[in-house]
Amino acid sequence: MKEATVQMPRQMSTLAEGVDDVYYFIFWVSVVLFVAVIGATVWFLIAYRREKNPQSTPPGHHDVLELFWTFAPLILLVPMFHWGFRDYVKAMVAPTDSMELRIKAKQWAWDIYHPEMTEPVPGELVVPIGRPVKAILSSEDVLHSFFVPEFRVKRDVVPGMYTSVWFEATVITSRFNAATKKLEGAPIDLFCTEYCGKSHSQMLATVHIVSEQDYEAYIKAISDFEPTQDKGKELFAKNGCTACHSVDGTPLIGPTLKGLFGKTESLDGGGTITVDENYIRESILKPEAKKVAGFSNAVMPPFVMSDKKIEALIMYIKSLK
Ligand code: CUA
Repeated sequence: MKEATVQMPRQMSTLAEGVDDVYYFIFWVSVVLFVAVIGATVWFLIAYRREKNPQSTPPGHHDVLELFWTFAPLILLVPMFHWGFRDYVKAMVAPTDSMELRIKAKQWAWDIYHPEMTEPVPGELVVPIGRPVKAILSSEDVLHSFFVPEFRVKRDVVPGMYTSVWFEATVITSRFNAATKKLEGAPIDLFCTEYCGKSHSQMLATVHIVSEQDYEAYIKAISDFEPTQDKGKELFAKNGCTACHSVDGTPLIGPTLKGLFGKTESLDGGGTITVDENYIRESILKPEAKKVAGFSNAVMPPFVMSDKKIEALIMYIKSLK
């Protein structure tokens, strides 16, 4: 596996080497042609300048030269097409034994649904090394795009349709510490690479590549979740809540969560409500149900979340005095 170069990040999937080989072939062909064309231009400028050649004497015809510039590009373009197409097909068709998971994009977070799980893990994609993974991508609102540079894969995530992407990771980045139930290491980034609104640049997730054993342990650990205030804080960041809700009193796109618990809020459309556990739960699962006055234009996507996780978030929100 090649390390990062000036132009390319580290190669970390089985697709990366092929992509880079085609890229560098095209790059160096372009460099050679650029130097040759500019070099010839400069040489002609000097050799055929006006003082030396006051009268232009263009040649009528040159068979060898014409055959050369017809067939030379063909010799370069056919391999470019062949290699590019071969790797494109490889990148588009997932192996039949791929492990399947679903990834949902929304403003402005990535929800990862591991195989056989009904509840997503936000902002954290964990995959085992050496196993092809096929991700079924869908969007809950606008156009997003899935991009992991180290894997050399990029795919649009389009509202109203499914797209998919596959990769097989080749380098371990992280290990799962069974004692602390935390991932440790140097994860890589999953970017959104389609401008999707105000906080597009914050729409990131981390990608951890772990060993097969660590993967099993991780899946087991996320299936049994115990709510704590710290975990609530973690969920708050990973679900992308920070893009719209501050915790220091500043109103952003949505109301601040500082001092929210127990407060009486006026509602959009009249009436008031005292913020309690039920109101927070409802606002996470059905954000449009009761909106705070002054935020009628703010749109929050509904979240799929178990009661244990909502409990952790409530613990965290209560702590924001
Ligand atoms: Cu989602 Cu940019």
